[in-house]
Amino acid sequence: MAPKLPAVLLAACAFLLALAAPLVAGEPDMLQDICVADYKSLKGPLRVNGFPCKREMNVTADDFFFGGLAKAADVYSGNPMGSAVTTADVEKLPGLNTLGVSMARVDYAPWGGVNPPHVHPRATEILFVVEGTLEVGFVTSANRLLRRTVSKGEVFVFPRGLVHFQWSVGEAPAVAISAFDSQLPGTLPVAGALFGASPALPTDMLARAFQTDGGVVENIKSKFPPM
Ligand code: GLV
Ligand code: MN
Repeated sequence: MAPKLPAVLLAACAFLLALAAPLVAGEPDMLQDICVADYKSLKGPLRVNGFPCKREMNVTADDFFFGGLAKAADVYSGNPMGSAVTTADVEKLPGLNTLGVSMARVDYAPWGGVNPPHVHPRATEILFVVEGTLEVGFVTSANRLLRRTVSKGEVFVFPRGLVHFQWSVGEAPAVAISAFDSQLPGTLPVAGALFGASPALPTDMLARAFQTDGGVVENIKSKFPPM
């Protein structure tokens, strides 16, 4: 028979699990109905985990409204990726503050418009294809690519923190709506982070990391000017 764990050890494990739970459960629960972001506070002291709340008497319905996802973004002129993401997060929709959710609209040019490999450090994403057909995928930490086609009306999930992409493979423009379990998921495009950071990552280091030469790295860097 397996030896019994001492009660004190079990209690210690339970305590550690309880401490860890908020770390895996996404953003913290609210302690009030609403906490509409007070953007004016941006001029004040540095914010930690969201914005301070507006006084409730100053809150209006407009604080919970954002019309910016109604319109398609331009994915053609001066757009090397052929895609554009329009976010509806707490930076545009103040009523989202402390609610732990947000959305985005992604427009893709037909045949090859790509939302390039990127990561959301703070959110899982669930994507609904409104129009068109997408090839989508993410890479696990075992370096396995999970990839498939997703068509109009279908849904795909990208787990938090994993590199993922969407690629339009239909002959009509594609549109997707994504939902995130964070008011501000953050987006780190892989190529931009490595080749367009400011200050720049050392060319020699990148050349070694990618097993190539400095000329190739400089060439890629020239396509990702620091923002
Ligand atoms: C799609 O992956 C998005 O982040 O909007
Ligand atoms: Mn994404």
